Amino acid sequence: MNAGDSSSSISSSSGILEKPFIYGTAWKEEETKRLTRLAIEQGFRGIDTANQRKHYDEAAVGEAVKEAIRDGMVSRDELFLQTKFTFQSGQDHRLPYDPNASIADQVERSLASSLEHLGVNYLDSYILHGPSRGAGLHANDWDAWSAMEQLHDAGRVRSIGISNVSFDQLKTLLAQCRIAPTYVQNRCYATQEWGRDVRELCRKQGMFYQAFSLLTANARILSHPSLIEIATKYKRQVTQVVFRFAIDAGMIPLTGTSQPVHMRTDLGAFDFKLNAEEIKRIEQVAIAN
Ligand SMILES: NC(=O)c1ccc[n+]([C@@H]2O[C@H](COP(=O)([O-])OP(=O)(O)OC[C@H]3O[C@@H](n4cnc5c(N)ncnc54)[C@H](OP(=O)(O)O)[C@@H]3O)[C@@H](O)[C@H]2O)c1
Repeated sequence: MNAGDSSSSISSSSGILEKPFIYGTAWKEEETKRLTRLAIEQGFRGIDTANQRKHYDEAAVGEAVKEAIRDGMVSRDELFLQTKFTFQSGQDHRLPYDPNASIADQVERSLASSLEHLGVNYLDSYILHGPSRGAGLHANDWDAWSAMEQLHDAGRVRSIGISNVSFDQLKTLLAQCRIAPTYVQNRCYATQEWGRDVRELCRKQGMFYQAFSLLTANARILSHPSLIEIATKYKRQVTQVVFRFAIDAGMIPLTGTSQPVHMRTDLGAFDFKLNAEEIKRIEQVAIAN
């Protein structure tokens, strides 16, 4: 596998995720455990969560993971488990750390709590949920990143990454960090050629771009004639064409669907392939008119 190219596989702890497609667990509340288990049953092996009770129930994700392993549905090393450290500004009152502690201690405490929630002794990927401010990287960001680098050194997380990051922030991080991110997780807008500037940077630097909100951030595009034409050609749904485009363009897509039928159709994106002209056409679909 080439670094930065997700089209064939991404690494789980044992080596390979055959289908680089991540199931996202945000906003599921009391359905979190049931849907996470269902996603594993349907074939997802990548699971994304966060120690941010405001939007995720990481403990419920962990219950599903523990049960799936206990029931022999999957082994730990077949799973790609990813969670996040979230600054206090992104949390509600249900904090996984003492807000008066240093940022390094907050990261350590949040990670320890995540490992406990998920019932594992290492993560495949640990993500900084987002820089502390919209522009630039500041002292808290560097403190958090440095703490994450140390978790990586200690083998408690196999890789580290960053989310909700701009091109400039990513360049700054790359220029000054000791350990570069393996994963960059961003909302992916068709109007920005599907995050092209950050994707290109990822490809050049051997990082993997994880794309969320591929459907929800691009609702208008789903009825674009080009996508409908391509979907008709392959006898696929437009949603599958979007996910297939993401895979063919080197991204790792996320889906947070609550419907088993959509879990299956989303994974059905692996059953066909777009050609280079179609990939280019979709990449420019929102800027071509
Ligand atoms: N880092 C961050 O700050 C951040 C932010 C947002 C999200 N995320 C991660 O990304 C994950 C996914 O979030 P998202 O924003 O991409 O999606 P999402 O909020 O989970 O929404 C996906 C939407 O697409 C629909 N959908 C999925 N497959 C479909 C299909 N085959 N046909 C029709 N509709 C379909 C779903 O409807 P149905 O439920 O009816 O299928 C749902 O409305 C989250 O759970 C979270 O893990 C991270």
